[in-house]
Amino acid sequence: TYVVTDACIKCKYTDCVEVCPVDCFYEGETMLVINPSECIDCGVCEPECPAEAILPDTEDGLEQWLELNTKYSAEWPNITSQKAPPEDADEHKGEDDKFDKYFS
Ligand code: SF4
Ligand code: F3S
Repeated sequence: TYVVTDACIKCKYTDCVEVCPVDCFYEGETMLVINPSECIDCGVCEPECPAEAILPDTEDGLEQWLELNTKYSAEWPNITSQKAPPEDADEHKGEDDKFDKYFS
C-alpha cells in the first residue's frame, strides 16, 4: 500500500484525490490518509503530491504512518474530488515536526 505521511499536514493540496482510481483517500482536519485495504498500489498518487507526502509503505520507517492511515481511514469521511488547499499551505510545505505541532 501507499501511505500519507506528516508532510501532508496543513498542506492538503488534494491533487492525490483526483488521480486515485479507487477513491481510497479520507479527510481529517489537518491531513488526508489512505485506506490501506482499499489501495491497489498503483502508485499514481505519489508523484502528484506537491508536498511529497505520499510514499510506498515498503520504505523504511513508515510503520507509524501505516498505523495512522489504517486507524483514521476507518473514522474520517471519504474525499473523492479536489478542493482548494488552506491559504497558508505553501508556508507549511516541508516544515518539520508538523505532527506534534498541528495534528488533529
Ligand atoms: Fe490510490 Fe493508487 Fe495512490 Fe493507492 S497508490 S492511494 S490506489 S492512487
Ligand atoms: Fe496531502 Fe499531498 Fe494529497 S499534501 S492532500 S497527500 S496531494
